[in-house]
Amino acid sequence: MNYEDFFKDKLNDLKNEGLYRTFREIDRHQNLFPKALEYNKGKNREVEIWCSNDYLNMSQHPEVMQTCIDVISELGTGSGGTRNISGTSSYHVGLEKCLAELHRKESALVFPSAYTANQSTISILCKNIDGIEIFSDELNHASLIEGIRNSKAKYSIFKHNDVEDLDRLLKKSDKDSPKLIICESIYSMEGIRSPLKEIVRLAKEYSALTYLDEVHSVGLYGPEGSGVAAELGISNDIDIINGTLSKAFGQMGGYIAANSQIIDYIRSFAPGFIFTSSINPSVAAASIKSIEISKVAETLRLKIKQNSSLIREGLRSINVPFISNDSHIIPILVDGPLQCKKISKLLLDDFGIYIQPVFYPTVPRGEERLRVTITPKHKKNDIDNFISCIDKAWDILELKRENNKNVHSLA
Ligand SMILES: Cc1ncc(COP(=O)(O)O)c(C=O)c1O
Repeated sequence: MNYEDFFKDKLNDLKNEGLYRTFREIDRHQNLFPKALEYNKGKNREVEIWCSNDYLNMSQHPEVMQTCIDVISELGTGSGGTRNISGTSSYHVGLEKCLAELHRKESALVFPSAYTANQSTISILCKNIDGIEIFSDELNHASLIEGIRNSKAKYSIFKHNDVEDLDRLLKKSDKDSPKLIICESIYSMEGIRSPLKEIVRLAKEYSALTYLDEVHSVGLYGPEGSGVAAELGISNDIDIINGTLSKAFGQMGGYIAANSQIIDYIRSFAPGFIFTSSINPSVAAASIKSIEISKVAETLRLKIKQNSSLIREGLRSINVPFISNDSHIIPILVDGPLQCKKISKLLLDDFGIYIQPVFYPTVPRGEERLRVTITPKHKKNDIDNFISCIDKAWDILELKRENNKNVHSLA
C-alpha cells in the first residue's frame, strides 16, 4: 500500500467537498474579551469573538484565575497520574462533591473531558448490561454516538426531538429487555431544547434508564445554573447527567452525576476513566471556584437572555435566516460549506468578526451555519455592529434573505 497517497487522496477528497477545516490563531487576552487578538504572520490585529463556548467568560474571571494560580504555586501543574495512581488530590474530591451538590445527586465523577465522560460511560454501561437496547436522538453529539457504537449494543435512532417516533421504537422493542434513552437537554448546534418531560414519561412507561447530556445547559439554565432537568424539576428522573467544565464554567474536563452505585460502577469499570491521567489540581480548584461564582450569577444569565433576544431581533430585521429558539445559541443558516466558509472568512478579514463556519459532520449536509454564541460581555453597540456586518456580508456575497428557512432540525 502507498500510505502517502492514501492520506493525500483522503485530504484532497475532503478539500474537494469543501469540508476541510482550517484554524485561525486567536489569543483571547483576559482584559479584552469579547475582543481578542488574531495572530497572523507575526502580526496581531484586534477582532471580536462571536463563537466562544466560554459562555460566562469564567475562564477569565479574576477570582477563578487567582485560584488556579494559587493551586499551581501550592501543588505544581500536573496531577501526577491516573486517579488510581497518585492523581487524586483534595481538589478532585472537592470538585466531585461540588458537582454532586449542583445536580442534587449522590455522587459525581470527573473525566478529562465531557467527550470521554460520554463515550466511556455509555460504552461500558451498555457493554456490560446483557441485552440492553439503546434509543438515541438522531442529533446526539459525536461523543454519545461513539459511546453507543463502542458498546456494540443494539441501538435505534429516533427522529430528532420526536416523542412519537421514540414511542414507536420503544413499542417495537422487547418488553423485557433493559433499555437506555439518550438525549441532550439543549442541542449544541441548534440551541433547541429536547422534550425532556415527555421523554422521562416514556422512560418510566417502558422502564428505561435515562442519560442526559447537559453540556450546553450547565451554568446557564435552571436554579443556580444546575441545568434544564433541574429547571423542569425532573433531575430525580434522570439516571445519569453529563456535563462539562469547559464551557459555561470556563475550565477543562467533564463529568457525570448519578446515584452512588452507578458512579462507583463507572469509576470501577470504565477504561476511559481508569487508564488516563486526571485533570490538573489547579483546574479542579478553578472549576470549584467557577461553579461557586456561577451559582449566584443570575445577572449574567439574565444579560445572556437579553443579548440573545437582541441578536434575534436584529437578524429578523435584516431578513437573514436563523434557527429560532430561546437559548444563547443562535445558528445563522448559510447554504453549503463553501459559502459558509466564504462568509466566515469575509467577516473576519474585512470586518474583524470572528465566527467559525460549521458544516458536515458537525451538522447534517445542507444545514451549514454560523453558530453565534452570546456572552454577557457583548454590549448593545457590539450587537448593533455585528448585525450591520452580517447585513453587509450578506449583500457582498448575494446570499438569499428569508426568515425561518426550513431545516429538518426545526421540525
Ligand atoms: C453536546 C456535547 N456533548 C459533549 C461535548 C464534549 O465536551 P468537552 O469539550 O468537555 O469534551 C460537546 C462539545 O462541544 C458537546 O457539544
